[in-house]
Amino acid sequence: MAMKIPFFQHKQLKESFADPEENIPAHIAIIMDGNGRWAGERGMPRAAGHKEGLSALVKIVKAAAECKVKVLTLYAFSTENWKRPTAEIEFILKLPQTFLNIYLPDLIRNNVRVTAIGDVESLPAYTQKALQQAIDRTKHNDGLQLTIALNYGSRGEILHAVKEILADLDAANMSLEELNEQSFSKYLYTAGTTAPDLLIRTGGEKRLSNFLLWQLAYTEFWFTDVLWPDFSEKEFMEAVGEYQQRKRRYGGI
Ligand code: IPE
Ligand code: IPE
Ligand code: MG
Repeated sequence: MAMKIPFFQHKQLKESFADPEENIPAHIAIIMDGNGRWAGERGMPRAAGHKEGLSALVKIVKAAAECKVKVLTLYAFSTENWKRPTAEIEFILKLPQTFLNIYLPDLIRNNVRVTAIGDVESLPAYTQKALQQAIDRTKHNDGLQLTIALNYGSRGEILHAVKEILADLDAANMSLEELNEQSFSKYLYTAGTTAPDLLIRTGGEKRLSNFLLWQLAYTEFWFTDVLWPDFSEKEFMEAVGEYQQRKRRYGGI
């Protein structure tokens, strides 16, 4: 049974929300940025920001589940983040273990199902193990799909898809005539999941940083200067509220 959070009972949250029942984005993707700066502002090591970022993550997962969002995709580690100092990389890649030990039972109560996208096989064994346990322990849940993008890069994902398609063409598992936008999508890590309706980026930067380039073609974007560890239900509801006012035309009139 999913634990009930009295979410819409917050008057302030309710006001920023256009309609709690209608037009909820089915898929929200978030670029969780600003952990390092959050720590820096407090004279703390960057790792402290990542740790605090994990608490924000859990808060937002619960909020999304409560709002009946179907898929939440969170950018946790990019293929470009390997450029960082080894100690910081290790700290980030150990967070899935912390997540598993401290927060997973709570997420199971919230009926969350964990999945992952990215080049997961190139991650350290301890990261893969924690991730796999989270996936296994939540695979029967049918609530929110929580997809963690770990060692994810969109250009790499597209190239990987192209290589698999070429191999399938070569092995005559597929013909060139069958290749279209729909069949191409099935070769991406996100196969089987609809494209994000809303993209949120925290931390003030206005760029995609190699996140879901194909999938975000018609997504609504929402940016905030709030640093990820400070991102709360309030900002989340604001973003959803603004999404609800947007007119999506997909090239039509
Ligand atoms: C986002 O926060 C987390 C990851 C990229 C892993 P940052 O670590 O990029 O924080 P800033 O942007 O340096 O503040
Ligand atoms: C994007 O943040 C990646 C994640 C949030 C995991 P970065 O901090 O790596 O992005 P850039 O370097 O500012 O573009
Ligand atoms: Mg950053």
